Amino acid sequence: MTLLEVGNLSVSFHGVRAVSDVSLTVARGESVALVGGSGAGKSTVARVVAGLTVPVAGSVTFDGVDILGIRGRAARSMRRDIHLVFQDPYASLPPSMTVAEIVAEPMVIHRIGAKSTRRDAVVAALESVNLLPAERYLGRYPHELSGGERQRVAFARAVIAGPKLILADEPTSGLDASLRVDIVELMNRLCQDQGIAIVHITHDLALAQRGSDRVVVMQGGRVVESGSVSSVLGSPRHHYTAALVAAAARS
Ligand SMILES: Nc1ncnc2c1ncn2[C@@H]1O[C@H](COP(=O)(O)OP(=O)(O)O)[C@@H](O)[C@H]1O
Ligand SMILES: [Mg+2]
Repeated sequence: MTLLEVGNLSVSFHGVRAVSDVSLTVARGESVALVGGSGAGKSTVARVVAGLTVPVAGSVTFDGVDILGIRGRAARSMRRDIHLVFQDPYASLPPSMTVAEIVAEPMVIHRIGAKSTRRDAVVAALESVNLLPAERYLGRYPHELSGGERQRVAFARAVIAGPKLILADEPTSGLDASLRVDIVELMNRLCQDQGIAIVHITHDLALAQRGSDRVVVMQGGRVVESGSVSSVLGSPRHHYTAALVAAAARS
């Protein structure tokens, strides 16, 4: 069953084309890696899906609804169903809020649960991302956490309102290399356990393989190749993908 269908999407900034004719689909509960070098247009595609950027052409259908034109209540409910996790949790986690407040915020915004039950939900979400014992994290502020802990808090916040899709934009690029694989695997496992589809945006092929079902490769604003992880990375058809695979093998 298709959850997200992006059709022939094009985006321009000040007349300059950033994304050209991009089409991709994500099935319910599927994990898709969106791969490509800097400037390929990956973040722009994610921002259109999240409703933050308006395309010049194309369609975005989510759960059977054309979401580019929606407003009001339907748009609010869409914001609950699609959660964007940013690259830099320093910038995306509000510095003056505690972990408990940050993780609970989507429940407050979308009016989920009573105040009394939210604390239990926050504790469960922190446990699901291995921040243990969860109680010890509730009163902390982002600056008191390590980079890995901050990104785990961002994931706890991403899943707490029960979204259908998480868009994770280079979620580990600010972290030590030794942490990245663990965090990506945790993120994919979390989504799989909860039936949440995920689009994992990365420039790192080694990370794209971790827990993803399919890969979509972008270059210069276009999709150049897509398919299962094993077919695309095992026998790439496009020269750009082949170059990425060769570069990853050298690193
Ligand atoms: N807000 C913006 N204003 C102008 N140009 C932008 C903006 N956002 C992205 N771009 C341009 O669009 C292209 C694609 O960017 P982006 O989607 O961020 O690529 P990626 O995430 O793959 O690195 C780049 O050339 C970038 O400079
Ligand atoms: Mg980007």
